[in-house]
Amino acid sequence: MDKFVITGGNKLCGEVTVGGAKNAALPLITASLLVRGQSRIFNVQPLTDIRTICRLLNILGAECSVGDDMVIVDTSGLKNYEAPYKLVKTMRASIYVLGPLLAHFGRARISLPGGCAWGPRPVNLHIEGMRKLGAEVALEGGYIIARARRLRGANIDLDFPSVGATGNILMAAVAAKGETVINNAAREPDISALAEFLQKMGARIEGIGTSTLHIQGVDELHSCDFNNIPDRIEAGTFMVASAITAGDVKLNHCRPDHCQAALQKLQIAGCDIEQGVDWVRVRRDGDIQPVNVTTEVYPGYPTDLQAQWIALMSLAKGTSWVIETIYKDRFTHVAELARLGAEITMKDSTAMVKGVGKLKGAPVMSTDIRASASLILAGLAAEGRTDVTRIYHIDRGYYRIEDKLVQLGADIHRERDE
Ligand code: EPU
Repeated sequence: MDKFVITGGNKLCGEVTVGGAKNAALPLITASLLVRGQSRIFNVQPLTDIRTICRLLNILGAECSVGDDMVIVDTSGLKNYEAPYKLVKTMRASIYVLGPLLAHFGRARISLPGGCAWGPRPVNLHIEGMRKLGAEVALEGGYIIARARRLRGANIDLDFPSVGATGNILMAAVAAKGETVINNAAREPDISALAEFLQKMGARIEGIGTSTLHIQGVDELHSCDFNNIPDRIEAGTFMVASAITAGDVKLNHCRPDHCQAALQKLQIAGCDIEQGVDWVRVRRDGDIQPVNVTTEVYPGYPTDLQAQWIALMSLAKGTSWVIETIYKDRFTHVAELARLGAEITMKDSTAMVKGVGKLKGAPVMSTDIRASASLILAGLAAEGRTDVTRIYHIDRGYYRIEDKLVQLGADIHRERDE
């Protein structure tokens, strides 16, 4: 296993290019299962999670290859409809094959994703959505077993605007007979990108970017190419990296319009922000001001930037409150940040973060993608050496993050953790 060794204290300055969005690319790749032939998806980083979803597609009989910045899927040989436990357990997003497989084969057998590092993550909304579309779904031996002779359109009211459930239902509905309406749909840019890809394949979808999606099922979809969107969470992480090190970083190839909630908070925290259509510059000279954050669905402040915010607030001049509403227990980073000297008190899903004058380097352990990002950020700002272990977590969602940080002046390298 590898670890990062960071010597903190350097201000990050310069320019960095933001890669393609992981959470958009995953359903874009599985949506390719809806058509016969070759689909090419550009602006996809060769992340571990991208390799995992491609491995799953290969198990299904498709040919899926990961390049430096693109994924090619050829579905000519697609023949299986089972997503096995050994793969799903490593990445919950494997559930994104449920809708496409049901649409393609009228059958799907998907290992039930279990909980994750920070608690339960149910998939009931995915299952109920498929049932509404006319599928029979049973849970047996740890698998979701779904069948439908032909999916048919339906009115689906989501109890919560789940990103994954919206994506799965959308992929199934485009090939269903008749109209589907998804009410309370997720509005995340990842879902809009998926809907645009499906439209390009010939799907009929209205309401993209809103919480009501109207889908008119079509008999045939065709393969096509698509450009993935930039990763707003990677962008947000680099913005916080600039802020926490009193740096001056310009992010290129990003979508500031997808990052407005984070940018507003950074400005209140004392950063200067300049932005164009596809770039943003984040600078800080003065103190970090304490700013409360409550995570919300898009366009609110994202849960995937909550851990990074807590790292930043650990060095604020005062106390702030960070409330997590999407995943109530997503706080595994808190105990690790405390090892660096952060003063954080938890009550239910609220972290009270008392800013300290400085953090001091220490060995810490990653527990998930975003928790690892927060530990790296804290390490960059801490005095002395921080070793971040179990960094396979960060490799799932950030492609060679250390190279990008070094380019900005950070002292960080990867080492074998003996
Ligand atoms: N939920 C249910 N039932 C369901 C589905 C979701 O109760 O059937 C609940 C969840 O337990 C949670 C909330 O709804 O409380 C939100 O879950 P959602 O389905 O929106 O999340 P997801 O699709 O499983 C995606 C991202 C996550 C990100 C969330 C929220 C992917 C592959 N994952 O997960 O990303 O945190 O949306 O924005 O797109 C990450 O990248 O580190 C990550 C965890």
